[in-house]
Amino acid sequence: MVLSHFAKFLSQPVVQNLSRDALLRLDPETAHGLTINALKLGAVAPQETADPKFFETEIAGLLLKNPIGMAAGFDKNAEVPNQLSDIGFGFAEVGTITPRPQDGNPKPRLFRVAEKDGVINRMGFNNEGHMAAYERLTKNKKPGVTIGVNVGANKDSEDFVADYVEGVTRFAPLADYLTVNISSPNTPGLRDLQSAEALKRLLGETLHARAQAAVRVPVFLKLAPDLDEKAMDEIVDVIRQVDLDGLIISNTTLSREQVTGCENADEAGGLSGKPLFNFSTMRLAQMRMRVGNELPIIGVGGIHSAKSAEAKLAAGANAIQLYSALVFGGMELLRDIKNGLAVKIRKDKLANISELSSTDVEAWANGKAEI
Ligand SMILES: Cc1cc2nc3c(=O)[nH]c(=O)nc-3n(C[C@H](O)[C@H](O)[C@H](O)COP(=O)(O)O)c2cc1C
Repeated sequence: MVLSHFAKFLSQPVVQNLSRDALLRLDPETAHGLTINALKLGAVAPQETADPKFFETEIAGLLLKNPIGMAAGFDKNAEVPNQLSDIGFGFAEVGTITPRPQDGNPKPRLFRVAEKDGVINRMGFNNEGHMAAYERLTKNKKPGVTIGVNVGANKDSEDFVADYVEGVTRFAPLADYLTVNISSPNTPGLRDLQSAEALKRLLGETLHARAQAAVRVPVFLKLAPDLDEKAMDEIVDVIRQVDLDGLIISNTTLSREQVTGCENADEAGGLSGKPLFNFSTMRLAQMRMRVGNELPIIGVGGIHSAKSAEAKLAAGANAIQLYSALVFGGMELLRDIKNGLAVKIRKDKLANISELSSTDVEAWANGKAEI
């Protein structure tokens, strides 16, 4: 009772702005911890009305109430996927989860590039490990809430591939989909798994592990944006030979081109948020051109408005995710994005949001479109 009054109070626009501004004054990792706690306590108001029917999306056999998900890295330990669904996300990707718990890099390791609405992180897969997340999901997973589990490798693992296999085996019975994340820049050597030979072995073994599970769970591969044409060609060659369900494009970038000279720009780690948008959307479109229209792609990287969400779909995404822009815009950004997309769908008299997908792939792939 008291909590629901508190939640209503927090949902007032003035209070939301105040709390967002207060969070922005805190060290970013502290602000993140407070946000997770607020969600756990039910102190973020749930969405009041159900999504319009035209937001319903099917991707890789999953039926989503809307195609806007929370990206990996926000809920690393699977603490709040149900709450993320309650506040309006169509799906939540938890993790990255590694077999054993690990502390990640020393703090500070999360930085705002405030002038550009960017974020740099070098968290290094801080997480409580498989068992903690597995137990939490077993206990709390609600029907109708779509949860992806993003799996990774421990930094000191002797065999990265074995860690992914363990993740797939552990979470296949529980997850709605799995993500094999080989694109985080903060675990030395991890991104090398994107090279052809290593990727062949990784996907061969993880997809074999998936095939052993009682239920067939879709597996996505999450890529970095820092890939050249040859690297993209090689990845596509490999994925054509295996039974992969989709791609997630992209993770953070090592490039600092968009933030040169800004405060915190020289911090080591991956850059995300608005300054990543054009680059990651170009890579998404370039991969869409290569794989054709059939392979599902979740587009992520720099979405910060309804316009940018629409552009990500137009560049070839079937569903989208975001994280960093919420640091600056607060959770109410999700509502703004959904409202903007709904206006567009009604204005253009579309039957379903899927009609916004892949309408402008070539321009994005050729670097001729930008926001
Ligand atoms: C603090 C932070 C932690 C992240 N941790 C992960 C992670 O554990 N696994 C992963 O696949 N991506 C992780 N990401 C990357 C995001 O999922 C996303 O791909 C990237 O930030 C681009 O989207 P955005 O610009 O909307 O944030 C992290 C991003 C941030 C900002």
